[in-house]
Amino acid sequence: MSRTAKLTFEGREIELPVEESTEGELAVDVSKLRDAMGMVTLDQSLANTAICRSEITFIDGDQGILRYRGIPIEQLVDRPNFVEIAWLLIFGHLPNRDELAAFSENLSNNQLLHEGLRHQFQHIPVDAPPMAILSAMLNNLACFHQELLSVDDTEQFAHAAARLISKVRTIAAFSYRRSRGLPIIHPDPALRYCANFLHMMFSVPYRHYVIDPEIEDALNLIFILHADHEQNCSTATVRTVGSARANLFASCAAGVCALWGPLHGGANVEVVRMLEEIAAGGLQPEECIRMAKDKQSNFRLYGFGHRVYKNYDPRAKILRDVCDRVFTRIQVRDPLLDIARKLEELALADSYFVDRKLYPNVDFYSGILLRAMGIPTNMFTVCFAIGRLPGWIAHWKEQHDDPASRIIRPRQVYIGVKQTDYAPMNER
Ligand code: SDX
Repeated sequence: MSRTAKLTFEGREIELPVEESTEGELAVDVSKLRDAMGMVTLDQSLANTAICRSEITFIDGDQGILRYRGIPIEQLVDRPNFVEIAWLLIFGHLPNRDELAAFSENLSNNQLLHEGLRHQFQHIPVDAPPMAILSAMLNNLACFHQELLSVDDTEQFAHAAARLISKVRTIAAFSYRRSRGLPIIHPDPALRYCANFLHMMFSVPYRHYVIDPEIEDALNLIFILHADHEQNCSTATVRTVGSARANLFASCAAGVCALWGPLHGGANVEVVRMLEEIAAGGLQPEECIRMAKDKQSNFRLYGFGHRVYKNYDPRAKILRDVCDRVFTRIQVRDPLLDIARKLEELALADSYFVDRKLYPNVDFYSGILLRAMGIPTNMFTVCFAIGRLPGWIAHWKEQHDDPASRIIRPRQVYIGVKQTDYAPMNER
């Protein structure tokens, strides 16, 4: 029996269908509202609006639950394999042995950049923001793979997806090497996904970077934990751009731009900068908490709070534990971890944060881990993008494959002036 919600307004009424999600969440379908009642809904920042139906990821913000295609992320912690999870998110099931081998082979065969693209790095300022380089280079792939721009060809989609996931590492590593005046290191097809990225980042011509399995596992896990997160800002951006039937390269390049923002993926950079300032004695943890609560200060406790999670971000929990494992392994204790722990302790004991249900999110510990691997702060959000790419691709595909999807074009509430006339210059 279909359920409805009744809306009455000034003597008129409409029954709106109510849809129930797999996990029992209810959604009022307002798609007929404007035709029937001449009104639209207003939900600034879309905090209460579902923009699509999706089967990819489920989050329960109150319980702190995150599942990829139904699988709780906690089950992905042991023997993490980012390539396997990328396939799961994009194609909807865990790959069998042959599928995984073929996908890995496809990634290995597509990790080099076209020489024309590679030479463009020579003309980029060495201090250019890595996220600007990344979004430009992902979009640039459309110039060098024009045979993969059709949005309706499933085979082309699979090749474009593999090229994006494979080459994003090469682009990231090349931009890092250029920024340090180091010779670029080409990918080694004998290495697995994350090991190859570390190789391209840190090897030198006369000495290969020694891949520590613990570090390789930690990087796989970081990428897995960032792989998808429902309709976050950057994924909604990819869907919006893709809804206009823009190609996959352009849509993901737009996702990079949204992720760059400090309220979104850029937060992992701000967290470490905040922790470094505390470590340098420029700030006290207690001062951070005070400023975060002071509306007059534009200080935010980066890495805290979330639009959906009103509980501890399950990804932050896992990353916090991995920090201990990695630091034990490399026999280093980064003071930033202790400062982060202190900040967390102070915040979770403070009514301002407790009342607003502000808990550590994925960005609170991810930067400390990346830093332990030798990845510079300005590359943290690039690493977030490497992880998030399969999620963006999965949502672009899901939207494209949905016969009900149309171009995303929201309405607005116009609050500007009524009609007025053009004033010639001498009358202004
Ligand atoms: C990511 O959406 C996703 O899924 C994103 C993500 C993903 O995987 O894609 O999870 C990745 O982006 C994680 C979030 C990273 N950003 C940060 O860590 C930046 C710091 N956090 C905040 O800016 C904020 O919490 C947001 C942006 C994450 C969420 O913003 P909302 O949902 O719009 O919440 P809000 O700004 O309306 O805050 C509600 C209240 C406000 O106080 P009051 O007006 O009620 O008095 O909480 C306060 C805010 O001032 N608040 C904070 C705070 N976060 C919220 N106060 C101090 N420090 C903070 N970090």
